[in-house]
Amino acid sequence: MTAIPSFAALAAKGSTSSRIHQIHIDDTQEVYPCSEKDNALNALARSGRKGIPVGCRGGGCGVCKVAVLAGSFRSRVMSRSHVSADEEANGVVLACCIQPTSDLTLSVIGKLRKAVTRPRS
Ligand code: FES
Repeated sequence: MTAIPSFAALAAKGSTSSRIHQIHIDDTQEVYPCSEKDNALNALARSGRKGIPVGCRGGGCGVCKVAVLAGSFRSRVMSRSHVSADEEANGVVLACCIQPTSDLTLSVIGKLRKAVTRPRS
C-alpha cells in the first residue's frame, strides 16, 4: 500500500481543523488523506498523479465516478444522468460530491479509472 503524503497541502489550505480520513484506492492500493470538509475528488487531484480528470467539481459532468466499497460519507445530490438510483444504491457516487466521515475504500470507474490506475512513471 502506498501512502501519498500531502498533509502539508491540507495544512496549507487551512483544513486541519476537521478530521482527516484515509481514502484507500482498491485498484492501486494507494492511500490519500482527505479532510471531512473536503471531497474525495480533491484528495485524488492532490495525489500527484498526472491526468486526473477534474471536471465541473459540482456533480454535473460525471467524470469522477467511483464506487464506495467501504466507509461512510456525506453526499450532495447527484445528477441522475450520471448516477442512476440503482448505481447509488450499490455505492456508486461522484467523487466530487462526497465528503468522508470515516476512512473510505473506493474503486475508480468510468473516465477516472485510466488516470488513477496508470502506472506511475
Ligand atoms: S467533476 Fe464533474 S461530476 Fe465530479
